[in-house]
Amino acid sequence: MFLKNAWYVAALAREVTRFAPLARKLLSEDVVFFRTHNGTIAALEDRCPHRFAPLSMGRMSSNGLVCGYHGMEFNPSGACVANPTQPDEPLNPRACVRSYPIVERHNLVWIWMGDPDLAEEETIPDYRWYDDPDWDADLQYMHIKGNYLLLLDNLFDLSHVNFVHGDVLGSSDRAPSMVHKTKHTESGLVDMWLSPNSPMVPGWAAVVSDDWAQENVDFWMDMHWQAPSNMMLDVGVMPVGGQREEGLQIMSLDGLTPETATSTHYFYGTAQSYRKDDRSVLAFWAKAQTYAFEQDKRVIEAVQERMGDSWDILAMNPIINKGDKASMLARRSLAKLIRQEQGLEAGAKGITHD
Ligand code: FES
Ligand SMILES: [Fe+2]
Repeated sequence: MFLKNAWYVAALAREVTRFAPLARKLLSEDVVFFRTHNGTIAALEDRCPHRFAPLSMGRMSSNGLVCGYHGMEFNPSGACVANPTQPDEPLNPRACVRSYPIVERHNLVWIWMGDPDLAEEETIPDYRWYDDPDWDADLQYMHIKGNYLLLLDNLFDLSHVNFVHGDVLGSSDRAPSMVHKTKHTESGLVDMWLSPNSPMVPGWAAVVSDDWAQENVDFWMDMHWQAPSNMMLDVGVMPVGGQREEGLQIMSLDGLTPETATSTHYFYGTAQSYRKDDRSVLAFWAKAQTYAFEQDKRVIEAVQERMGDSWDILAMNPIINKGDKASMLARRSLAKLIRQEQGLEAGAKGITHD
């Protein structure tokens, strides 16, 4: 059900501290994160091999993590380095826990849930706007009681913007005039929506004060997807017939990391460079984004509730609209990657689009 050999966002970098371990279930596996004394992040299986206490209930030490039940101590590689209840006995070589490859990048913590030998840092999605000094960025976390692919559907079928977020991001009369195209990329898809010569987005006019923004604008939304579940919305407004650089551009990040089959860790962010030195501009976008994603959360959780325990909406025979094209392509590519990984289907490693 999940692609294991892939990078997922596991946490916001600021969530992992030197002071207390962070427990998080990812792809139905219990993982504990902590920051070592030298500042690097480690991730271990969150279950002590002795009597299975969660290591996240323990405390941090100079060597790593001390189990809170009988005090066995584990280093960042997952090896047991002390067993205080039997100090004269040699350490049991079986007393170790799995450690996961971790990379801290773009103010996010990335985890590789599959075979560590296949983890290549170069395949981490490019979210450079989130630590670029020329951009002002904000990152947040939200828990969603719904399968992660329901969020992928939601983000790809941006026609929902006009209905779910009509008050902040769209207007219900814009939908029919939007031009829509889907393109394959090396590691996923990009789905492009354009609303030419249309009214300024409601709510944005207060922030974008340039003269051109007082008239009609060209409004674009390009949703990029990198398998399995990392997305980036490039969205903005520009003068009619103009160039994107002349307008306002927001790079909005979405990391959809499965917690279980029916719940998701939703990492999201806003990065913008328009009047970057005025922090109130970023605060405006960040607040609008959280407001909009709470609207999405209500819909997604209600959808999951209607699906019951099922995680696979396609198995329930839903109606497919034209706007579902990108998410259907992405779901199909991802299902193929999962089948290949599980050895159920031969094929080269990497995304394919047949
Ligand atoms: S359960 Fe961890 S040391 Fe006993
Ligand atoms: Fe939405």
